[in-house]
Amino acid sequence: MSGNFRTKRLPRTAIEENTIAYFRTAEGTRPDLRLVQFEDRRIIVKDFNRSDRLFRAIVGPVLIRRELGALRILDGLPGIPRLVGEVDRYALAMEHIPGRSLDRVEPGTLPQEFYDNLLQVVDQMHARGIAHCDLRSRGNVVLGDDGKPYIVDFAACVFRGRGLNPFIRWVFEQFVLADRNAVLLIKQRLSPELLTDEDRSQLAQELPYERPAKFIGQNVRKLTRILLTRTRRSW
Ligand SMILES: Nc1ncnc2c1ncn2[C@@H]1O[C@H](COP(=O)(O)OP(=O)(O)OP(=O)(O)O)[C@@H](O)[C@H]1O
Ligand SMILES: [Mg+2]
Repeated sequence: MSGNFRTKRLPRTAIEENTIAYFRTAEGTRPDLRLVQFEDRRIIVKDFNRSDRLFRAIVGPVLIRRELGALRILDGLPGIPRLVGEVDRYALAMEHIPGRSLDRVEPGTLPQEFYDNLLQVVDQMHARGIAHCDLRSRGNVVLGDDGKPYIVDFAACVFRGRGLNPFIRWVFEQFVLADRNAVLLIKQRLSPELLTDEDRSQLAQELPYERPAKFIGQNVRKLTRILLTRTRRSW
């Protein structure tokens, strides 16, 4: 992948003409997830262009900027799809990871090595100053065809920045704990037979800010859907 290609803007027309499949089609607050044949490879384009009008105008560009920022910082880290480029303020393109997300993986099929690798990716991501904050959602972890874990969907991530402010550092640390805990929750769900005593005792401890964080997260999501989409849906 040349340096030039990575920074150039990808034209929307080329993306639309070369879309070969949709992983998901846009509705409400959700983006289109397109699989696109671009030059000699397949890429994923996350695209809010066809999401609900207000959401597209107000929130979509913020989420795209956030994800772009995270993918730039994480670029080159094994276990994170590489950023391919920006389409416009509503869409970005990244490497396609052949595989399937963990919400489609049968319980009892993953080895311990998968969780060790996943925790390693999570720790390296934190070392670069990004907390994911939505790893509980198993759709955000992909089991690659190479058997390795990949993390996607940085729309909700938190940036530590330079970490000079002690309060920000402390807040970031809470998200780090939540990400690490989310790996254990995935393991509990998909591979309970692999849980060690240490894992179990960590799972038994509630994180200090788990309840308020969940409450705020759920209500912000509800409010966004009520205010920024035309269709009311059940959540
Ligand atoms: N780079 C990628 N390579 C392969 N599959 C991907 C990639 N990015 C996303 N996916 C697939 O598309 C799905 C949705 O992507 P993503 O989670 O980024 O979108 P989202 O709209 O934020 O979804 P959700 O609201 O469900 O979290 C993922 O669960 C994963 O299966
Ligand atoms: Mg997701």
